Amino acid sequence: MTTHEVKLDINGSEHVVAVESRKTLADVIREDCSLTGTNVGCEHGVCGACTILLDGEPVRSCLLFAVQCEGMEVRTVEGLATADGLHPLQQAFSEHHALQCGFCTPGFLMLAVGALERDHDMSDDDVREVVTSNLCRCTGYQNITRAVMAAREVMP
Ligand code: FES
Ligand code: FES
Repeated sequence: MTTHEVKLDINGSEHVVAVESRKTLADVIREDCSLTGTNVGCEHGVCGACTILLDGEPVRSCLLFAVQCEGMEVRTVEGLATADGLHPLQQAFSEHHALQCGFCTPGFLMLAVGALERDHDMSDDDVREVVTSNLCRCTGYQNITRAVMAAREVMP
């Protein structure tokens, strides 16, 4: 089995892993870096459960090979909360009941954080458009949309 050494900056910590070419970024984050907050659902780019930020952009980590991400900066759901407490978006998800089973939640959080960091002044329609990117089987989307709009008002 041929492996390649890949260096990733994940949530500010350096991870150096030896991975097969075929291994996805999602699997490397979960299995080699022990960060299991990123969920894997469909494994072919449809559901968005595996969304992370790669150099600041929301991407589906099941569609990337880890070897493509050498030297890049990864942010996962584990990096959102700080010693001071939850990230404003996590707080908003809690207050607006934006999750039920929670399987989709890490993906929605990273999707929305990336979108809000890129554009603080997103319109309500922009927020709705962003939220359509990922699938949730439980909530019906209204509360997720409300939570993202609420976070938009308080995110620095
Ligand atoms: S697991 Fe990656 S999009 Fe569904
Ligand atoms: S809260 Fe269950 S899939 Fe979204």
